[in-house]
Amino acid sequence: MNLVNQTKKTFALTTPLYYVNDVPHIGSAYTTLAADVVARFQRLLGHNVLLITGTDEHGQKIQRSAESLGKAPQDFCDEIVPSFVSLWQLLNIKYDRFSRTTAPRHEAIVREFFERVWQAGDIYQGQQKGWYCVSCEEFKEERELLEGNYCPIHTNKQVEWRDEQNYFFRLSKYQTQLQELYQSQPDFIQPESRRNEVLNFVNQGLQDFSISRVNVDWGFPVPRDPKHTLYVWFDALLGYVTALLEPDAEPTLANALTTWWPINLHLIGKDILRFHAVYWPAMLLSAGLPLPEKVFGHGFLTKNGQKMGKTLGNTLDPVALVQRYGSDAVRYYFLKEIEFGKDGDFNEVRFINVLNADLANDLGNLLNRTLNMVKKYCVGSVPSIAYEVISQDNPLKAIGLCLGEQVKQAYEALAFNQACEAVLLLVQASNKFIDEQAPWSLYKQGQQQATEELLYAVLESVRLAAYLLSPIIPNISSEIYQQLGFGIDFNDQIQSSITAPFAIHATWGVLSSKQQLGTPQPIFKRIEPLQND
Ligand code: MSP
Repeated sequence: MNLVNQTKKTFALTTPLYYVNDVPHIGSAYTTLAADVVARFQRLLGHNVLLITGTDEHGQKIQRSAESLGKAPQDFCDEIVPSFVSLWQLLNIKYDRFSRTTAPRHEAIVREFFERVWQAGDIYQGQQKGWYCVSCEEFKEERELLEGNYCPIHTNKQVEWRDEQNYFFRLSKYQTQLQELYQSQPDFIQPESRRNEVLNFVNQGLQDFSISRVNVDWGFPVPRDPKHTLYVWFDALLGYVTALLEPDAEPTLANALTTWWPINLHLIGKDILRFHAVYWPAMLLSAGLPLPEKVFGHGFLTKNGQKMGKTLGNTLDPVALVQRYGSDAVRYYFLKEIEFGKDGDFNEVRFINVLNADLANDLGNLLNRTLNMVKKYCVGSVPSIAYEVISQDNPLKAIGLCLGEQVKQAYEALAFNQACEAVLLLVQASNKFIDEQAPWSLYKQGQQQATEELLYAVLESVRLAAYLLSPIIPNISSEIYQQLGFGIDFNDQIQSSITAPFAIHATWGVLSSKQQLGTPQPIFKRIEPLQND
């Protein structure tokens, strides 16, 4: 049964479907964190949101990983998949669909899609010769390789020579249509630097690519020639379509595409840009389907400048990180400190400094000191001030009135760091305002009205800050809201029950006078600096 409210705008977004050659690392978590933030933000706007994530389980890379452990590939996948599910839970990621490419209903979708592409005359047999990186599951151009035939991305893995009969997809046929797409929809590929990369690649001339393998058993058989196995990427991209099926629907393309297609946003890392921005739209054009709205390719999390990954063995264990610092801390750091779209190095000293400065000092102290003053000077409830009374010149009101729209634009542009910075400016201005205006002396001088106006403006600023950061730090924002006397948990803001819609809560003046406040409690405990620093 389809429960989607037809009157609301829909917003479907995807993370990549992750390879299950190993348990997830912080790099794989990065895209999913960002996707969860976008999904939460879109839900606050009141849209029907579908966040799709999942696992990509076929191909030689997985087959070899299973073999090296003496396991059957399906058993191996079944053992690894729960580590993704539990990491998403640990990071407080609220996805709607988890797509596994080994699901039987996925095969039905792949077969139907293959048939459409076949009927379009876009599949033919040919000889594939070239250098293959099993870790990328991709053929490489000879000029891209590092000395000694090493892969430029998995710099400790040598590529392997292949010379075999494969089925090919007629990518070259779509060159002009793709160029037209990039022209007519300039933000189809974001950010701009990635768009340019793709334009350069496509302008050099597209070559057909092989969509089947021999000597690899782990995958779906090619529908018209079961001696061949379908190339893992051909089946993986279609995992996005399978994920759109309602759980009880018959697996047909028509059923999959009714409600959520075309997908609004594919979030991916820059290494898989070609697949999403070139191969995928061409496959869809061939099958006669509408194209997704946008592909955003983010940068890499690096350690000492190198991409973090299992293959290179330089990863950071996300489970340990969350257990040590909590999910909000991890979410905040990666989204605030790394410009989405650019590479960013992880450094634990900086991690601790940022969290202490922003969450413990600026935001946490602001809430705490203000609540304590309200307790003392206004008997523990929101000052009875109508927000209209507060002058337009009040610096906090002036920032607060425009902040919602500014932060909305930042979230929509996936500029998470800018959203955080803008909110932090209000938080910092609030701390400064208290220091300068000294409510304790206003109170002593008997200026009750001025004291209450001031504290109202500050409380309202903390509220607004908490609201606007709630997609990123939902637990802390919920804690702040509760201390401000709201019965709202940002983790419960799912489509059917948005109790804090953006249209209301992102504006200035939401706190109602006399609202009973909660007990002041630290919202983020200062982290002790590392021992060896
Ligand atoms: N299975 C394919 C995707 C198929 S989508 C239909 C795949 N899987 S992956 O597990 O190797 O990578 C998934 C995503 O994780 C990619 O977007 C990749 O960019 C991202 N990351 C892997 N390591 C990363 C970093 N060190 N930093 C940031 N993202 C990284 O590719």
